[in-house]
Amino acid sequence: MTIPEFSLRPATEADSALLLSLRNDPLTRANSLNTELIHETTHAKWLAATLRDLSTRLYIFERDGVAVGMGRLTRGPQAHVDVSLALLPEVRGHGYATIVIEMLLKVATGWTVTTAHAICRADNIPSLRAFLSQGFSLEQSIVLLRKELP
Ligand SMILES: CC(C)(COP(=O)(O)OP(=O)(O)OC[C@H]1O[C@@H](n2cnc3c(N)ncnc32)[C@H](O)[C@@H]1OP(=O)(O)O)[C@@H](O)C(=O)NCCC(=O)NCCS
Repeated sequence: MTIPEFSLRPATEADSALLLSLRNDPLTRANSLNTELIHETTHAKWLAATLRDLSTRLYIFERDGVAVGMGRLTRGPQAHVDVSLALLPEVRGHGYATIVIEMLLKVATGWTVTTAHAICRADNIPSLRAFLSQGFSLEQSIVLLRKELP
């Protein structure tokens, strides 16, 4: 059995289709604050702005040179960095989330930040477990309240 090689590389405009399919994947949508389907035009604008944004870094996670997921680091206002990730459905359940988070945290150690945050739905068990395994702890004082407006 060969052991796969994993790497993280900066995302580019050429990754647009992969990033959109990850974003519109049913599980990613269900686990997001905004569960709407994202249109291609909206996505293209978002990607262009994100690639220009100096406080955000988008990465593509590769297994043996093939893109299988994404990770994002966003510098927050209080010396913290927000971490998020998504994997293609066909590679989920193999423990890769922990690898992506570990790689993202390594990148973030080069930033002038003191804390890493992740926002995770309470029922997103794989994501919760992966972050907990990387030393994150639950910040129980934060509760999201939501109301649909007419
Ligand atoms: C969140 C996500 C990246 C996790 O990746 P994954 O490949 O599904 O999870 P992994 O195989 O790496 O497993 C992570 C942990 O969850 C556990 N796990 C995986 N699937 C599970 C399931 N269905 N039920 C319970 N636990 C599960 C694993 O055992 C592992 O825990 P352990 O390290 O204690 O053994 C992936 O599900 C995904 O892309 N989801 C959609 C996007 C998303 O929710 N992103 C997170 C927003 S912060």
